[in-house]
Amino acid sequence: MFNIQQSYDQAAKHDALIIGLFEKKQLTNTAQEVDGFLDGQITTLKKNKKISTKRGKVTPLYTLQKIECDVIYIVGLGKEEELDAEGLREVFAAAGKKAGRDRSKNIAIDLDSFRSEAAELEDLAVLAGESLALSTYQVADYKEKTNEVDVSIEEVTFYAVSGTEGLVEAADCGFAYGNGTNRARKLINIPGNLLTPTELAKEAKELADQHGFEYDVLEKEDMEKLGMGALLAVAKGSDEPPKMIVLKYQAKETWDDVLGFVGKGLTFDSGGISIKPRENMHQMKMDMGGAAAVLGAMDIIGEMKPDVNVLAVIPSSENMLNGSALKPGDVIRAMDGKTIEVRNTDAEGRLILADGVAYAKQLGATNLVDVATLTGAVLIALGDCTTGAVTNNESFMEEVLEASVETGEWIWRLPSYKPYRDMLKTSDVADLNNAPGRLAGSITAGLFIGEFAGDTPWVHLDIAGTAWNSKPNNLCPLGGTGVMARTLAQLAMNREEIE
Ligand code: BES
Ligand code: MN
Ligand code: ZN
Repeated sequence: MFNIQQSYDQAAKHDALIIGLFEKKQLTNTAQEVDGFLDGQITTLKKNKKISTKRGKVTPLYTLQKIECDVIYIVGLGKEEELDAEGLREVFAAAGKKAGRDRSKNIAIDLDSFRSEAAELEDLAVLAGESLALSTYQVADYKEKTNEVDVSIEEVTFYAVSGTEGLVEAADCGFAYGNGTNRARKLINIPGNLLTPTELAKEAKELADQHGFEYDVLEKEDMEKLGMGALLAVAKGSDEPPKMIVLKYQAKETWDDVLGFVGKGLTFDSGGISIKPRENMHQMKMDMGGAAAVLGAMDIIGEMKPDVNVLAVIPSSENMLNGSALKPGDVIRAMDGKTIEVRNTDAEGRLILADGVAYAKQLGATNLVDVATLTGAVLIALGDCTTGAVTNNESFMEEVLEASVETGEWIWRLPSYKPYRDMLKTSDVADLNNAPGRLAGSITAGLFIGEFAGDTPWVHLDIAGTAWNSKPNNLCPLGGTGVMARTLAQLAMNREEIE
């Protein structure tokens, strides 16, 4: 997929060549060579301000057979000192998307032209690889005349004059991160009738086979034996059987230091008897966004193979309302023995995660991250660009935050003072109340799950705001974002270095 060239050759065959252009900066060696073959066209157009250096603006230059590359995309980079990692993702995506849309299969990037104080070649290769994958993702449709086109890029040549060592590995790494994210997006975008818990389990099995992970799934009867009363209670109202999906990636000889991911796999959330309003209910096919993030992360981990043990647990169910559905006021018993009064059947995520977290602990997880589209309240608190976090462990939280800074996926920690925990203990008849009211809704939801994590270092990530993109851009179309797939994978990668 990726390869490196140190100097540009007139006969080099590419469908497109991407050159970055900062405000007030000289052309790179490669750009100068190309400019020479094009009789100084780039220099002239630049001088006459016919090429924009505005960040993300792409100007195509057709080469009219003067070189063996059909088109050059000059992408504006803006001011050198203002271009950070996120900006670089955007500019690579702008160019990558354009190239993909034009059916370019073999593209070249003048990597030197993107260099600045903020990013060395290796960072650039990672970001380019990631952005090319992200920007060429398309949502599948089911139309008679499909909107899908083949935008896949097959070959990428980086031009860099020196310091080329390790660039292919770096780009492969970025590409794996992008592809894992796309895998998560794909799952989120599948309609609820087509992605049932059974189908989600099949997707997980496929992923496991691809990477050689151990795979296991618990059926209803297994759950009954293990006393998973919370997951079973949610699943009761649906004709689709629930699944508890397990993937194991064992890199170490012993299974005693285990990073556990638990993802909410609610394939459709109608709210149950506490039914949701009709207007936006169709969006609730995204309620398995946590499961998608976990599977996306496992895909990246399968490619990167860090020296850490990782366990993925996905409790999966629909939340529906038939004659045997869970009812407000019902009291259920979770796997760890705690009883729960169900005040609201729409607070189902924390119920299935209660058993998911308990099971992950039983399977040996020594650190836990749960990821869930858990509360509408997190949208009110943080909007749709930042994931909300709740934790019981400062230093583990710090690790997750560090990983998220590297991936550019924003996370903000919410407080977890005792009064919030007290709000969960307001049932007269059970240990816990699953819906203690609107105040601090995202915090109490998170802390409810924390009750089942106990003393195990745990971080909860509420992606109800960030799992869905309603403002399409070059990095992500309308639909699932795949948020947190990259951060979870990065967390695993960083843990490799800890010991
Ligand atoms: N899946 C929803 C949360 C959600 C809301 C996800 C918006 C994505 C976008 C969750 O199961 C839910 O219904 N939460 C309730 C909790 C309440 C009943 C305590 C909510 O947020 O209203
Ligand atoms: Mn719900
Ligand atoms: Zn839900």
